[in-house]
Parts: sequence; structure tokens; C-alpha cells
Amino acid sequence: MTQIPVARPTLGEEEAAAARRAILSGWVVQGPEVAAFEKEFAALMGAPLAVACSSGTAALHLALAALDLGPGDEVITVSHSFIATANAVRYVGATPVFVDVEYLTGNIDPELIGAALTPRTRVILVPHQLGMPCDLGRILALAREHNLKVVEDAACAIGAEISLAPGDWEPIGRPHGDLATFSFHPRKVLTTGDGGMITGTDPEIMARMARLRTHAMSLSTAERERAGGIVFEQYAEVGYNYRLSDIQGAVGREQVKRLPGLVAERRRLAARYREALENQVFLDLPQEPVWGKSNWQSFWIILKEECPRQQRQVMQALLEKGIRTVRGVMCAHREPAYRELPSRFPLPVSERLQDRSIILPLYPGMTDDEQERVVSALMEILK
Ligand SMILES: Cc1ncc(COP(=O)(O)O)c(C=O)c1O
Repeated sequence: MTQIPVARPTLGEEEAAAARRAILSGWVVQGPEVAAFEKEFAALMGAPLAVACSSGTAALHLALAALDLGPGDEVITVSHSFIATANAVRYVGATPVFVDVEYLTGNIDPELIGAALTPRTRVILVPHQLGMPCDLGRILALAREHNLKVVEDAACAIGAEISLAPGDWEPIGRPHGDLATFSFHPRKVLTTGDGGMITGTDPEIMARMARLRTHAMSLSTAERERAGGIVFEQYAEVGYNYRLSDIQGAVGREQVKRLPGLVAERRRLAARYREALENQVFLDLPQEPVWGKSNWQSFWIILKEECPRQQRQVMQALLEKGIRTVRGVMCAHREPAYRELPSRFPLPVSERLQDRSIILPLYPGMTDDEQERVVSALMEILK
């Protein structure tokens, strides 16, 4: 029996040829391929500017650092995300203030943000969880009213879309807030192995992030080469090594070309899961809001309270039938690393989703037969 993985990257001859081109060019880190990747990614998003970096986590860290966040500042966000979201807030010494999420989207519940605001709140940091757009319309209005910055954690959401005006659909991460961050980890829709990107509109903030990713060096290697004479760089502040390699940049450029096809195929597979599972009495399914279209980076099921089987039992039974799954999104506040930082608010929906949801296999290239195997195994287990 062949194993069905939970995810599989779409990497082919085009990416292999691009990596080869970069390797043989003699310039393998943050050079012309990364610069072209940034331009092409920005064009894909309709974003004015984009800065590449080494991961989605690095992108979050750079975004919060460039907004000058530090100790004493508070960031309203969710616990219900990959731990990178909350960790990035702690990297800059600020405090994450966790707000609960909506049951059917897994995204921050905008109704609850007001109660979490304090005079120290500076930023609202919102994931578009697993590719599902969060309620940016209401979040942006709240942020404007209270003079807060909005950072979109679009790590999972490349290719997702949002409508903020009737009939007008735009890519998530244009950005609609101040900055949006992306991940190119292999479980994401586009991959460069590891990798990240930030889109934004403010040239000064973008330039600061571009410096911070290379130890805040005042002149890049390319700028020093172009200078014509001998020039020395300076280091005005403490930065990081968050560079992306040119090999990854070259691969990323090929991935950008694939995006429309990859998203279309994910949406087809998600629609098939929904059709097959929506009448299952023990399951709830994720729901797109009318103003949002997911890229279906992941499709998850939620076991209802009355379901006789627990999450781990269902996952184990699927594994025994050769089907790999992962549990739903984690909650940072329940991890030992967050023991010193208890949540100010109860997070019952976040905890329920962590305990009761399961991410099913979904990847372009998944055959209809494979998907039917997943569905019938699940039906059998939940019978
Ligand atoms: C919501 C979210 N934010 C941030 C990240 C971090 O991205 P990376 O793994 O590229 O550092 C992830 C990765 O899984 C994520 O899902």
C-alpha cells in the first residue's frame, strides 16, 4: 500500500534548471536572482515593493523590527498559529496579547480585538490561517481608529484573495495592512526549500528591512561593486543574517510562474473534499467568508463534540491505512515556552480547534483515486 503524504511540493525540471543556472553563475547568495524574484513576486501580488529573506519567521521578525517594536509594546495576535507568529513578537521584546479565533475560519475574531486594546498596543498581527483570509475589512477599520499598524502573516496565503469593495478581488498580501509576510517552506503553496518575503508600500521601511537582513550593512555587496572605486560599508544598528540564496531566488522565480495553476488545482481538490464530506454527521468543515477565497494551502476537518473518536485515534487509524495527516493548528499559549506568558483572555475556540481538527492530504498532483482513498478511509473510521 503506497503512503499518501499530507503535502508535496511541486518542483520540476524548470526549478532544477534555474538552480543550476544560479550555481554556475558564480553568484550564489542574495544577488541578481533574488532581486529578480523580489520584482516578479511583487508584480504577482500587485505590491509596490518586496524584500526577500531566509524564512517566513525571519520575515515576521524583520517586519516587527522595522516597525520599531520593542519592550513595553503590545501586539494583538492569535495563539492559534504556528509558533513563529508569537515567537517573532518575543524576538523584538514586545508582548503578544492573544485573542480567540472564529470556529469555521480559524482566524482572529475581530469582535474580540477591542477588549484586548491597551495604551501599549502598537500592532495587530494577523495570520490568514492555512490560506483562509481573515476579516481584514474590520481589522483595518479598527487599526485606523486606534492608530495601529497591521502586519498580515500571509505565510500560508500566497494566492488567496480578498474582496474589500464589491466585485473587486485582490491578492492577499498586496499588502492591505502595512506589511505582509510570506513563507516558502515546502508545505506552503510556493516553495524555495526555506525562504520568506515581505511586501509593503513604505520605501523607507522596506529599505530598512533590506538592510536588517544583512546585519544592517549600509552598502550591499552589489552596491560596493557598482561604486567604481573603493567604498567601505557601515553598520548603523544591530541586524541579522536573514539572506536568501540566489539558488533559492532562481527556484522562486519558476515557482511564481506556477502560482495560478497550483491554486486552481488546490481549489478543485478542496471542493471535492467538501462535496464528499459535507454531510458527514461527525464533522464540521472550514468555511470561506463571502469576501474571501482561500488558496486551500490546507484543508481541515473538525471533529464535532459528539464524534465518538478522538483526534489522535482518527489520525492513527488513517496512518494505519497509509494516510498521513497533521493535527490542526497549534496554540502557542499551551506550550512550555509560553508558561511565563499566560493568556489574558480565555481561548476556548483556539483550544477546541487544536484538539479537534485534522489537516487532510492535499497537494497538486494528488490523484482523484488518492483523494477517494482518503475520503473512504475517513468514512470507515467515523462510521
Ligand atoms: C502562520 C505562519 N506564520 C509563520 C510561519 C513561519 O514560516 P517559516 O517556516 O518559513 O519560518 C509559518 C510556517 O509554518 C506559518 O504557518
